[in-house]
Amino acid sequence: MVDESRPKQLGAYRVLSLIGKGGMARVYRCQHVETGEIAAVKVLYLAEQADPNTLTLFEREIRAMQQLRHPYIVSLRDYHLSAQLAYIVMPFFESSVADRLMVRLYSPREAAQTLTHLAHALDYAHSLGYIHCDLKPSNLMLDAKEQLYLADFGLAKSIGRRNPEQFAFGTPPYMAPELADGAAADIRTDVYALGVLLCELLSGHRPFEAERTTDYFYLHRRALPPAPSQLNAVPAVLDKAILSALSKAPAERPQSAGELAQHFRNAVATLPDKDQRWNAPHIERPHIVLKPVKGGSGILRELNEQPTLMRRPDQLSLSTTEHRAAPPSPARRTRRTQNAVIAVLLTGLAAILLLITFLITR
Ligand SMILES: Nc1ncnc2c1ncn2[C@@H]1O[C@H](COP(=O)(O)OP(=O)(O)OP(=O)(O)O)[C@@H](O)[C@H]1O
Ligand SMILES: [Mg+2]
Repeated sequence: MVDESRPKQLGAYRVLSLIGKGGMARVYRCQHVETGEIAAVKVLYLAEQADPNTLTLFEREIRAMQQLRHPYIVSLRDYHLSAQLAYIVMPFFESSVADRLMVRLYSPREAAQTLTHLAHALDYAHSLGYIHCDLKPSNLMLDAKEQLYLADFGLAKSIGRRNPEQFAFGTPPYMAPELADGAAADIRTDVYALGVLLCELLSGHRPFEAERTTDYFYLHRRALPPAPSQLNAVPAVLDKAILSALSKAPAERPQSAGELAQHFRNAVATLPDKDQRWNAPHIERPHIVLKPVKGGSGILRELNEQPTLMRRPDQLSLSTTEHRAAPPSPARRTRRTQNAVIAVLLTGLAAILLLITFLITR
């Protein structure tokens, strides 16, 4: 099928093919008309989607790319920014971690290497005050040697700054719980996303799957994440490092990407060589009952009171064992007994009234 909207040329670049579409832009494989150099050009949806936020985000991405110069961060070659057309030119990569995951999951050793490179890039970006805020497989580019490059600083924020747009954004399966509460992103927000990513690299599954953004927010804030070893044949000694990154409270996570990478490498090093090289197979997501975060009756009450946030994804039951099977509390038992007595009294009263009416009208 011919793509009607596909441009023929973008500045000095001839468009060869569409690589993919994201939430903000289309990415094309292009060739420089004079040098013959191949590049990837990301073109913002402008005509179709006149949202002023997207132009702001794109400008932010350009600024971040200009400032962030690192061997593991995708570099900016050129850009164009006007109300009619906005694009950035960057090196073309053969694939991304998302592509690689479809072929083969990561062994613990491969995951440690990927995390180490990513942590170098992130620690550097964090040191300059940038939080990535959209870490996920399609934003991790791979060259022919499978060297990793971090892309897409479109959602990047300055440390400690709240969203000027007044809404939380990112990609819901990777979003830290504090973002759902409207808190400012910080280094630990990216550390949480790295925990989700690690779980996915090793097991093929993210900790939480849901249908709607609100469901994801709810799960990130309230549900205990399953250990990667529950999701696939991932060595259980790796669970602790990954789950620490997925802590609900930012203060309980590793405080930097480098620190998480160090914990993870230490855990991998305890494995025998053959287990370090073991790639788990792709499997269906197992059925796991997610439990609520401990911390008082408030959470269970909320589970009871907000059934609409509890929509079940296909393969997961979000109910808790406590919620489903636990016997009613003494207070609830007393309330039930009182209700039953009132119902019996009311029925008796109604019967007497009926009898009196019958006798009078006879
Ligand atoms: N420089 C590049 N070289 C090759 N492919 C790229 C490059 N940059 C992005 N891509 C690919 O192009 C596709 C679209 O990327 P884009 O960033 O627009 O969306 P996304 O990452 O899938 O989602 P989102 O909009 O949420 O970021 C993705 O498959 C991405 O991996
Ligand atoms: Mg992207």
